Amino acid sequence: MRVQTILKLALAAGVLALGAHVAQSAGPEPIKLQGLRGGVPVTQDLPPTASHQERDHAPVPRDFVQQPPLIPHTTSGYQVTKNFNKCMDCHGWSKSAGSGAIKVSLTHFRTRDNTELDNISPRRYFCTQCHVPQTDAKPLVENTFQRARGLQ
Ligand code: HEC
Ligand code: HEC
Repeated sequence: MRVQTILKLALAAGVLALGAHVAQSAGPEPIKLQGLRGGVPVTQDLPPTASHQERDHAPVPRDFVQQPPLIPHTTSGYQVTKNFNKCMDCHGWSKSAGSGAIKVSLTHFRTRDNTELDNISPRRYFCTQCHVPQTDAKPLVENTFQRARGLQ
């Protein structure tokens, strides 16, 4: 093979590799997620704005036993920041008698290594990671989910 041919082959391989790279990155646009805090860091105040949250109602039956219960009231304006947790104002053990709210469960004081703490575990601090307020919006994706048989 002559040196020129080798160079041409190398160039062709390079162009192919580049083509493959471009094809790979031109996939579907990644979905942009919008958190309740809209990207504002937890060190800053920002009461979440609830557009169409349902009014307060009785607790909602669970659909599977491990489910974090749904929030049966509006959370509009409730701050959960590094320094203050509005949810614990009513759901903390010392507050629940006065507020009439259900106490946070025992499991919320346990770390991931099963150590029992005397206050809410950091992994359970940001309540709305798991507990969500309700709205009558249409589901974004259709699904055929059925309540767990044991709870039907
Ligand atoms: C002003 C007091 C108050 C605040 C603040 C509050 N809650 Fe509640 N919450 C209640 C009360 C009262 C109930 C019980 C409603 C009932 O039994 O009718 C309740 C019920 C719930 C339930 C349902 C529990 C179950 O077993 O079904 C969840 C989950 C919940 N709240 C989560 C939260 C989260 C998360 C926050 C913070 C974003 C929060 N709450 C802030 C008063 C409060
Ligand atoms: C990592 C997910 C997660 C986070 C974060 C979390 N929870 Fe829960 N929560 C659950 C699950 C799952 C249950 C039901 C099983 C259990 O009791 O652990 C529950 C149960 C509850 C209950 C019902 C207790 C009962 O006796 O029926 C209340 C009230 C509650 N959580 C409030 C809160 C509050 C307030 C916060 C924030 C301080 C919070 N949770 C953070 C997952 C979470």
